[in-house]
Amino acid sequence: MYTDFKLYTVNCTLTKGVFIMRMYEIIEKKRDGFELSFEEIEFFIKGYCGGTIPDYQASALLMAIFLRGMNERETSDLTMIMAASGDMIDLSAISGIKVDKHSTGGVGDKTTLIVGPIVSACGIPVAKMSGRGLGHTGGTIDKLESIPGFRTAISIDEFISNIKKIGIAIAGQTGNLAPADKKIYALRDVTATVNNISLIASSIMSKKLASGADRIVLDVKTGSGAFMKTVEDSTALAQAMVRIGHQTGRKTLAVITDMDIPLGNAIGNSLEVIEAVETLKGKGPVDLEEVCIELASRMLQLGEQGTYEECKTKAGQTLKDGSALGKLEQMIDQQGGNIKVINDNTLFGQAAHSFDFTAVRSGYISHINTDSLGIASMVLGAGRETKESVIDYTAGIILNRKTGMRVERGDVIARLYTNRPERVSEALDILEQAFLIGNDEPAKRPLILGIVEN
Ligand code: URA
Repeated sequence: MYTDFKLYTVNCTLTKGVFIMRMYEIIEKKRDGFELSFEEIEFFIKGYCGGTIPDYQASALLMAIFLRGMNERETSDLTMIMAASGDMIDLSAISGIKVDKHSTGGVGDKTTLIVGPIVSACGIPVAKMSGRGLGHTGGTIDKLESIPGFRTAISIDEFISNIKKIGIAIAGQTGNLAPADKKIYALRDVTATVNNISLIASSIMSKKLASGADRIVLDVKTGSGAFMKTVEDSTALAQAMVRIGHQTGRKTLAVITDMDIPLGNAIGNSLEVIEAVETLKGKGPVDLEEVCIELASRMLQLGEQGTYEECKTKAGQTLKDGSALGKLEQMIDQQGGNIKVINDNTLFGQAAHSFDFTAVRSGYISHINTDSLGIASMVLGAGRETKESVIDYTAGIILNRKTGMRVERGDVIARLYTNRPERVSEALDILEQAFLIGNDEPAKRPLILGIVEN
């Protein structure tokens, strides 16, 4: 917030009684630390999306915002303008409270594949529009597409009809959902302007508002594998997003969760789907199950299914009685996928090569640079190095050991799967740098680090 704010009108030039805005002057105003009006933000978004403002001026303004920040009012204006830049999906044809979930992104984050079926099995309709992998983080849509036949590009009509029929659909964002965010995100990605709380909050919340859910649960990831590296920054991001939700009449709750260590043991598309299925069978890694039960319980709570404790019991029950697994199976079937994958992993296909990453010394794993594991997995073929890259669904990493565990020299810490044997030494070098092995057992860090609600 700029305490020295004074009426600042140089961005408007009076010509024959009409105020004309100039991008140059908007950039200058933010560069000097002043607050932008709704009209100025709208002028920028409309001009950039309409092609009248060039990349270099948009980049300059984004950098000024990155360095000077935006206050609450500017952040919520930017969110609303980006949300309204394309389709605003109307879910009113689906009865009941629609609760959406969004993760700020991490490594091995397959929670949507588990949380969606749990919540749907408890009777809350799940209408989830998801994205693809971004940088070192994976994306739900890429993971689902590793299931043979699964269609993520479904029309809004099919999306709504599936939810009415079976209570769940997960689809790729339509091309016209918050297109302004899409264009601006691509520019931020290449101009070092991603990691800014106002820009991340408005980017995520514009898509959530356009997706049409009544209530929103946000999973704000924190640590070496997340965009936000500290709990303080994650809390500030969570507060900004919860505030926007509140201002727009959508009850929003954020769970701050740990992403200093990859979630579960699998990183890579089909490997993560297999792990999600195991978790729905009640046989998944405990950290993954704990985070999924927390997120599902919070969604059920916002969906007015009882107290937090009651919702937690309900969510856990769906793993025990198989109803959540049944929902995943129904969704796979409804969206054209082969349901036999649930009981036969070989149907995903297998990478032609596997390599072991072993411990160079004995001790405790004291830290993992988790974003490096995302990058190593991308090098093996599981992610996109350029926008044009084609994903290898079978590539990735299975971790045998994570932070806090004891290893002896030569123990296998991770197994790498790839069809690019020529890139393995590069991936192994990245892993070598990513794992720190020390003499002392590190302190345990909780998985759920905080709750922010309005
Ligand atoms: N995810 C988004 O959708 N936008 C951001 O800016 C960062 C993460």
